[in-house]
Amino acid sequence: MKHPLIIAIDGPAGAGKSSVAKSLACQLNYLYIDTGAMYRAVTLKAMRAGIDLSDGRVVEDIARQVSLGFATGQAGVIYMDGEDVSAAIRAPEVSRNVSAYVASYPGVRQKLVELQQAMGASGGVVMEGRDITTVVFPQAEVKVFLDAGQEERARRRFEELSSQGREQSYNELLADLKRRDQEDRNRPGGALQCVPDALVLDSTSKSIEQVVAAILHVVHEKENQPA
Ligand code: DC
Repeated sequence: MKHPLIIAIDGPAGAGKSSVAKSLACQLNYLYIDTGAMYRAVTLKAMRAGIDLSDGRVVEDIARQVSLGFATGQAGVIYMDGEDVSAAIRAPEVSRNVSAYVASYPGVRQKLVELQQAMGASGGVVMEGRDITTVVFPQAEVKVFLDAGQEERARRRFEELSSQGREQSYNELLADLKRRDQEDRNRPGGALQCVPDALVLDSTSKSIEQVVAAILHVVHEKENQPA
């Protein structure tokens, strides 16, 4: 008898986590949860409120008040206080402020980790972020650390923005990525790390399909084991 699993995926920005997680969720009919979008939504709410983002206590209050939700069957769509903010949370100012300020506050992390644990409690989820295999679901049946070289991740971001007609220099993107990697790997709580029992995959020279196939192989093994 197959049982619904928790699939936890961590890795740095631009490694391909979202594409991989969406494809897995679609093929397995699981719920896809992008935890980075939750940190981004709190950041957006704080920015709209016009507060000083360096004041952790005020940002933590915002996190406690916000209502966040994902709709089943609409991968990549996030609601903040009932509003679809999926596009607004991708603004460059949000990207800058989320890793520099909002994701570093313990009260923000505590609230979002609790929400994520509640969302995934009954399994049948693919959850991706930075601390899913370490803090949110260290007991997940399938744990993946998805990495890729920094230059390749910056190149992918450059192509993505160019295809949207948004020009930004490759060197600036690479510098920005290095700064975010540094912040993500060194924050006191929920820092990005690779756990010993994770399936480690490097997407530098692999397609999304190849990465997904490697994960599905493990998923099918675990699905058929007794719960
Ligand atoms: O995955 P992303 O780039 O959309 O994430 C935005 C930021 O949120 C990123 O800088 C790290 C942070 N984040 C986090 O601290 N913990 C998570 N589980 C997910 C994201």
